[in-house]
Amino acid sequence: MLEVKNIKYSYNKDYQALKGVSLKVEKGEMVALLGKNGAGKSTLFLHLNGIYEPDEGQVFIDGEELKYDKKSLLKFRQKVGIVFQNPDDQIFAPTVEEDVAFGPLNLKLPMEEVQKRVKESLARVGMSGFEKKAPHHLSGGQKKRVAIAGILAMKPEIMVLDEPTAGLDPQGVRGLSKLLKELNEEGITIIISTHEVDLVPNYAKRVFVLVDGLLIAEGTPKEIFAQPEILDKANLEVPIVTELFQDLEKEGFDMNNDYPLTIDEAKEKFLELLNKN
Ligand SMILES: Nc1ncnc2c1ncn2[C@@H]1O[C@H](COP(=O)(O)OP(=O)(O)OP(=O)(O)O)[C@@H](O)[C@H]1O
Ligand SMILES: [Mg+2]
Repeated sequence: MLEVKNIKYSYNKDYQALKGVSLKVEKGEMVALLGKNGAGKSTLFLHLNGIYEPDEGQVFIDGEELKYDKKSLLKFRQKVGIVFQNPDDQIFAPTVEEDVAFGPLNLKLPMEEVQKRVKESLARVGMSGFEKKAPHHLSGGQKKRVAIAGILAMKPEIMVLDEPTAGLDPQGVRGLSKLLKELNEEGITIIISTHEVDLVPNYAKRVFVLVDGLLIAEGTPKEIFAQPEILDKANLEVPIVTELFQDLEKEGFDMNNDYPLTIDEAKEKFLELLNKN
């Protein structure tokens, strides 16, 4: 379980990026953090394994307060793996395989286990065959995949991903969403920030909305996407499927205050509407 209690953080004296953020994520959950550019999503994420130390407030992992000495940080970073928004902040080894191996080697795992994890992690993100490549010769989307493989190889209990689908091609976005869902089913707690509202209802059971360093809403995708004033404050839109049904309602179809968010829900609703007519 991960808990953030009233975190405040300023980059400099006159600019507070987090103004008192509290949230709880239970073990095994998969949640999304939404918010416009500059809302503070990355700043919040960098607190979740102690890369940033808050000015005020605390972070708890499995009920234990995060401390900032070297030994504690090592322990917490084994539990919480963060995939940075910009892969260039994460990847630094001369080859892809060395980069992915860096975390497991640091955990002092036997070489055989390290190699196994590198192979598996690269396969899961669709980057097998790139082992010997220099990361700086990879495309943006490929770098992102390698960065994700590097965290996967650590087998963290909690994975925090800062806009992991940004820069991926459409099949890459779908593939990654599927992978994250699988990892979650395998028991990994997943926290993800994203602007891809179409996909959020497919995987997130709960959504947090951050605006100007404050959480303004928390709820199921159904609850969040039904609140236009919240969406407006956060520069968000409803999923495109939902927009279609809102338009149909304007044409006189009775939606009964229930708007589909996913393709599956849309299909059901269509059949229901057809049967009524
Ligand atoms: N290193 C820094 N020094 C000073 N200010 C910063 C720094 N990093 C971020 N900020 C400021 O803090 C605020 C929050 O930034 P943050 O990167 O957390 O936003 P975000 O929600 O992740 O945005 P995006 O969707 O663009 O990734 C912004 O106003 C930003 O300009
Ligand atoms: Mg960010």
